[in-house]
Amino acid sequence: MKSLVCLFAALSLGLTPLLGQDTESPLNATLLVKTRQPGALINRNIYGQFSEHLGHCIYEGVWVGEDSPIPNTRGIRNDVVAALKALKVPVLRWPGGCFADEYHWKDGIGPRDQRPSMINTHWGGVTENNAFGTHEFMDFCEQIGAQPYICGNLGSGTVQEMMEWVEYMTSGSQSPMADLRRKNGREDPWKVRFFGVGNESWGCGGDMPPEFYAQNFLRYNTFVKDYSANRVYRIACGANGTDYKWTETLMAAAGRHCNGLSLHYYCGTGRVSHSATQFSEGDWIYLLNSASRMEEIVSRHAQIMDRYDPEKKVGLIVDEWGTWHNVEPATNPGFLYQQNTLRDALVAGLTLNIFNRHCDRVQMANIAQLVNVLQAMILTDKEKMILTPTYHVFEMYSVHQNASLLPADVASPEYSLDDQAIPAVTASASRDNGGKVHISLTNADPHHPINLSGVLDGMEATSVSGRLLTAPAIYSYNSFTAPNTVQPAVLEGAKIEGGKLSVTLPPKSVVVLEVQ
Ligand code: AHR
Repeated sequence: MKSLVCLFAALSLGLTPLLGQDTESPLNATLLVKTRQPGALINRNIYGQFSEHLGHCIYEGVWVGEDSPIPNTRGIRNDVVAALKALKVPVLRWPGGCFADEYHWKDGIGPRDQRPSMINTHWGGVTENNAFGTHEFMDFCEQIGAQPYICGNLGSGTVQEMMEWVEYMTSGSQSPMADLRRKNGREDPWKVRFFGVGNESWGCGGDMPPEFYAQNFLRYNTFVKDYSANRVYRIACGANGTDYKWTETLMAAAGRHCNGLSLHYYCGTGRVSHSATQFSEGDWIYLLNSASRMEEIVSRHAQIMDRYDPEKKVGLIVDEWGTWHNVEPATNPGFLYQQNTLRDALVAGLTLNIFNRHCDRVQMANIAQLVNVLQAMILTDKEKMILTPTYHVFEMYSVHQNASLLPADVASPEYSLDDQAIPAVTASASRDNGGKVHISLTNADPHHPINLSGVLDGMEATSVSGRLLTAPAIYSYNSFTAPNTVQPAVLEGAKIEGGKLSVTLPPKSVVVLEVQ
């Protein structure tokens, strides 16, 4: 009866109900993993996160205050911390985003009841009371075990302000800013390796042409100092998606002065009129196709960087990426609160495969965003918390963190609909310190299982186990009333026979295999 109700609901929305029962006959694919040719290390920071003062990311998602009935440690919610610890979040970017270029860090230190307020002009025009500032962010990072990545204010802040923030956080000397930090209760400096010199300076961070930003980067960056034992990894604002001229200009003018150059790319079914949960198969393939463009975008930026930096000293830092849908009905349009379906999980899986494969250049990535905003890991509703399908992909893929990339060639059938076509299967593979090989795979085809036969060249494989993320429908999601609709399960049927791998990837699925 329940499935009939779902069927009618789906039909009334004009959706094709892609449920388990319309599975068609399997297609075939092959995989060659070259275990004799380990590549670069997959920097674990590729699995990084981004948290902005935007909607309910920081306030409610992370910070509830010490007096909240929601269980918390020094104002930070315990359930969210536990979920993020389990995710092994390596690095967390903060405080924005667009918010970073209007954030004045001195407003967020000292006694909370004396901190000035400001208007968050980008995100809903709400009043920001600065309850969550530098000390609270660093506490949060320590609680979840992540390294901080601070984004400085180049758009509306001064050079002095940026310089003093770095001194405040990292100097162990007797100095004005270090003494102010001590007065505010923190004796030891924090270690802040990652520092961004502005955000989206081509847009919300100041509408600058690349030449003008490059000059500003050089000026501000000069005053971002290495205090005490701290060594700053300086990240220049990078391109918007396919703006290759930006990368060319920045690498020419500032490539020798930065350690990282960022890149932002979002995929959405259009920022105008498309729902996160109510979509057709046409919307499914459209979004997965848009996400797949990351391959070309990263490759082309990397090629430009190679010309200026053949030794690959400068990292490509994809510090904002993910899906951007319409906000959930009846929520503040400025808060960017969206649900997260199996479709978002596929986007995460195929994008992380791209980053893994480009780990010689991609040194960090930060999905947008951590909680309650865009392609979030976690959604909260007062005291309730749910994990999204995207969370599960990050957890399953965490086996790749700091492992050695192994070349993985896939010959995949095409998945197509109308004028859209993508390879059904994507893959990446790595070998961890213990010698285990992990292969992450996505099957974008919502109708056909894929029988994959694999060769692990150079390895005498004897056993394989697997984990699977799929769901009844392409638009299945976890809600506060049904929080486990999309969750990982054991993958049955994967085999090693005569050293060869065989596995069936269910339709619309993400799979991670462990081979020994
Ligand atoms: O992640 C939301 C916003 O998207 C960020 O604030 C901004 O940098 C980007 O445009």
